[in-house]
Amino acid sequence: MAKITLRQLLDDAAERGYGVPAFNINNMEQGLAIMEAASAVDAPVIIQASRGARSYAGDIMLSRMIDALVEMFPHIPLCLHQDHGNSEATCATAIQHGFTSVMMDGSLKADATTVADYTYNVDITRRVVQMAHWIGASVEGELGVLGSLEHGSSEKEDGHGAEGALGHDQLLTDPDQAVEFVGATEVDALAIAMGTSHGAYKFTRKPDGEILAMRVVEEIHRRLPNTHLVMHGSSSVPQPLQDMFNAFGGEMPQTWGVPIEEIVLGIKHGVRKVNIDTDCRLAMTAAFRKVALQSKSEFDPRKFLKPAMDALRDLCRERFEQFGTAGNASRIRPIPLAEMARRYRSGALKSERMTKAA
Ligand code: G3H
Ligand code: 13P
Ligand code: ZN
Repeated sequence: MAKITLRQLLDDAAERGYGVPAFNINNMEQGLAIMEAASAVDAPVIIQASRGARSYAGDIMLSRMIDALVEMFPHIPLCLHQDHGNSEATCATAIQHGFTSVMMDGSLKADATTVADYTYNVDITRRVVQMAHWIGASVEGELGVLGSLEHGSSEKEDGHGAEGALGHDQLLTDPDQAVEFVGATEVDALAIAMGTSHGAYKFTRKPDGEILAMRVVEEIHRRLPNTHLVMHGSSSVPQPLQDMFNAFGGEMPQTWGVPIEEIVLGIKHGVRKVNIDTDCRLAMTAAFRKVALQSKSEFDPRKFLKPAMDALRDLCRERFEQFGTAGNASRIRPIPLAEMARRYRSGALKSERMTKAA
């Protein structure tokens, strides 16, 4: 099995009605845990690396690690995706290092904090789409700004996130504009804003429709039935993980994430890629805390990392099962990038979308 593009994987997911979690990684342990989970339940995988991950591990280390995972798990199609690309250069260098998919997040300017206007977003996203499709790689765009409908602001992850107050017109993707954006850019997948935000502190209570606007997902899917939708900030921040983190010396104030049932509802309405990082971090660091507190003389890092990998593997396996990803890997035959490029050039992928939409 080889690496797969996001476009091919999400086309398959749409055809069969499942969603694919996109897990962020920075190191070998996360990569192994995700692949072990996928292998246990026969799930195709999206592994994504942020700009922070690329500078933490280095592009060469990351891309060699992915090659190793592909070799170790030959039965699992693996999409390597750039999370929140901020510029054409970030996207181009990701592809250069073996990413089969990139996100051009033109909802923010290149500094990843200033909210961009619509024209900027369309222009830069279209340019990245042209470049990526020459090579056969896929592109995810974003329309709308991620942030909380409760307090009208965005959470920053490693310096990434909108600065200043945000209105509901920015925090909720406009369905009319989404139709225009997809037509103008020809993105393969569209990230939309509906009240989720990055990090652990998404909601101050269990979210209802007022603060998690799943109606926006439904409306965009109604207008764009053949566009693959992406939900960012989709960690559920499970209560048992919060409790474990705190039981072993952590200090995480009570918080709420995106309930699994809301994500499953999203999958019924065109959500095909579900971004999860915080839950993975929490699963691992809660396990670190437990070892640190219970085995105070322990100094072998593997004794910390192994339980953390087990916790991450269990979390990923649960998401593969909850989103219907499980059971789909062995059926998929990855199409090489060169063939995807040929299909883009011939217009086959474009016309397929148009025909299905009609
Ligand atoms: O985009 C948000 C992800 O959680 C990545 O976070 O930039 O800290 O790696 P990061
Ligand atoms: P979480 O912080 O909810 O895990 O979201 C991750 C994400 O959207 C990465 O792009
Ligand atoms: Zn995100």
